[in-house]
Amino acid sequence: MLIKVINGPNLNLLGTREKDIYGRLTLAEIENKISVLAKELQCSVKFFQSNHEGELIEAIHDCRGGYDGILINPAAFTHYAYAIRDALTAVELPVVEVHMSNIYAREAFRHRSVIAPVCLGQIAGFGWVGYLLGLKGLVEHIDGK
Ligand code: DQA
Repeated sequence: MLIKVINGPNLNLLGTREKDIYGRLTLAEIENKISVLAKELQCSVKFFQSNHEGELIEAIHDCRGGYDGILINPAAFTHYAYAIRDALTAVELPVVEVHMSNIYAREAFRHRSVIAPVCLGQIAGFGWVGYLLGLKGLVEHIDGK
């Protein structure tokens, strides 16, 4: 089983960015934790991060043929990027959306996700652990198919 883990804009700054909201771990440290769980779950993971919408869309397209699912934190694109939503729909793979913060407890513009309706599920508010919860849910879903 092969899962792509995609992170959107500004998540390359984790560890230094708004630590009170997003915690102290860097993206590389979080990716390490995801790799450890992936090994336990006997799946492979590939990581991708970009600050550019088009690159994220191409990374999603590249999941066609070969990938079994997508774990994505679209960051601020969550709230308005219809092209990312359409790309996720187009590849016809199970998708889990992750947010480190509880987007529903923050500013009003974060309360809406245009991505969530095309996802299997959404995890929000558990910090970096959300990536592990999301991976577990995604793998269980794929295994159960
Ligand atoms: C985020 C929440 C978004 O609203 C925000 O723009 C981010 C990170 C999260 O992980 O909590 O960049 O996706």
